[in-house]
Amino acid sequence: MDDRSVVGGQWGGGSGLRVVMAGLLLLLGVRLAAAQENGKAAGAATFKVKCVLCHGADGAGNTPLGKQLQAANLRSKEVQKLSDEELHKVVHDGQANMPPFGEQLTDDEISQVIQYVRTFATSAKTAKKQ
Ligand code: HEC
Repeated sequence: MDDRSVVGGQWGGGSGLRVVMAGLLLLLGVRLAAAQENGKAAGAATFKVKCVLCHGADGAGNTPLGKQLQAANLRSKEVQKLSDEELHKVVHDGQANMPPFGEQLTDDEISQVIQYVRTFATSAKTAKKQ
C-alpha cells in the first residue's frame, strides 16, 4: 500500500527532525536540573535585588535605610525562630515598615528567598564556632 511507504517516508525523512527533538529534550532536561539546583542561587539573587537595600547583604539590617526604617536583623533568633509560613506571610503581605512583595514575587520566589534568609542563621553559627 502507498500509505505504508508514506509513513515510512515520514520517519525516514524525519531523522533530522528526531535529532533536533532529542537535542531539545536534552536542553530541557538540563534546564530543569539547573533550575532545581539554582533554587538557592535564585533566592540569593532575589535577595540582592529586593531586600539588600534595607536588610543588607549579610541580613543584619545595618544599611542607612535599614536603620532608618528599623529593618529586622534577619540573622537574629527572633526572626529565625519564626516558621517558614510566618516569614512567607511577612514577605508577601508586609509588616510595619517592611513593604509587601506579594505582587512582585511569586510564591516560589518568596520560598526561595526565605531559604536564603535561613542561610544567615547557619552562617552566624559557623562564625561563632570558628
Ligand atoms: C524598604 C525596606 C525593606 C525592604 C526592601 C525589605 N524589608 Fe524586610 N523588613 C523591613 C523592616 C522595616 C522590617 C521590620 C518590620 C517590623 O518592624 O515588624 C522588616 C522585617 C523583615 C523580616 C522579619 C519579620 C518579623 O516578623 O520579624 C523578614 C523575614 C524580612 N523583613 C524579610 C525581607 C525580605 C525577604 C525582603 C526582600 C524580598 C525584605 N525583607 C525587604 C524593611 C524592608
